[in-house]
Amino acid sequence: MRVNGNSCRTIWPDSGDRGLVHIIDQRQLPHAFVVEGLRCVADFAGAIRDMHVRGAGLIGATAGFGMHMAAHTAPEDNFDRHLRKSADLLLATRPTARNLAWAVERQLAAMAAVESVTEKRDQAFRTACAIADEDAEFCRRIGEHGRPLLDAISRTKHGEPVNVLTHCNAGWLAFVDYGSATAPIYAAHSAGVPVHVWVDETRPWNQGAKLTAWELGQESVPHTLIADNTGGHLMQHGRVDLVIVGTDRTTRTGDVANKIGTYLKALAARDCGVPFYVALPASTFDWSMRDGVREIPIEERSGDELKYISGRAAGDRDVRVLISAPETPAANYAFDVTPARLITGLITERGVVKPEENAITALYPEHRTRPS
Ligand code: MRU
Repeated sequence: MRVNGNSCRTIWPDSGDRGLVHIIDQRQLPHAFVVEGLRCVADFAGAIRDMHVRGAGLIGATAGFGMHMAAHTAPEDNFDRHLRKSADLLLATRPTARNLAWAVERQLAAMAAVESVTEKRDQAFRTACAIADEDAEFCRRIGEHGRPLLDAISRTKHGEPVNVLTHCNAGWLAFVDYGSATAPIYAAHSAGVPVHVWVDETRPWNQGAKLTAWELGQESVPHTLIADNTGGHLMQHGRVDLVIVGTDRTTRTGDVANKIGTYLKALAARDCGVPFYVALPASTFDWSMRDGVREIPIEERSGDELKYISGRAAGDRDVRVLISAPETPAANYAFDVTPARLITGLITERGVVKPEENAITALYPEHRTRPS
């Protein structure tokens, strides 16, 4: 997607140096666009854990390049041990997004398929690039499959914009390009369909206010930032035509873990008869799980993310201020699970599907059998 009119991805290998991968440091957005270089596995693990990069697809792509860097820097006489240690370091960074383990497992399998260390290094680099390219392509296709949903609503609105509500950031910043929830929006917008997006601010990290609003602005998509608790009111008054959100892990039965607060939006949407869609590439499915509420691990982050808020003050100064009393105990659950029964459909790179095991595995027949 575009930044100041120039095409950009969220992660890319250096064109001349295999030991260097570039990311956008998302902690600085929207006030500064800062590109950061990652050179060792610890850099990759830190970037994921401390949210320089975030969002399911981008966490997966970063882990893919992290494993490439593990292979690139591993000593020949201790190659396999170094790889395993690096994989464990990356896997321990964030627990909820399925894409992280998916990318690490894909890299380990790709390297196991060839013999020499030189071949393994080449294979790891190719696989990291393939994971990133596939992520971008799958999101593009999510846009193609999701766009007709907006087209159909638009036809009933006689030129009035289609109002989409989204939560958190499942935009291109959460992937390599296009985004999942935003892909149908971008596709409709570029086809001339009038669209307007209600952007939940998404406390406590404010991915909506900091990232989604910024990236929609860069693409000139009309949007309005709202406080997290506003969606229900807007839905009651007919001001939301559909909800589209992303997901960090989706069970084979269609239960969906997404940023904390998503479940409450789904409840409000059901009460108001507003369609509620979830967009995802295949890498986000956890084919081993059936019961999202019981099985999906939910990340708990520092309570300080709730108690402090950061932003930009006059004079371009970055400031972090304490909101609560310093001694207030705080619990910061990063995700919640929306059960399949509240979801209208899943928008995937293969098409739109009902959130039901039979329908999902008919679309992905290679996953008909549940892994143990
Ligand atoms: O904590 P984050 O920012 O990594 O959370 C990820 C998200 O932005 C959301 O949960 C998103 O809606 C799904 S990720 C494609």
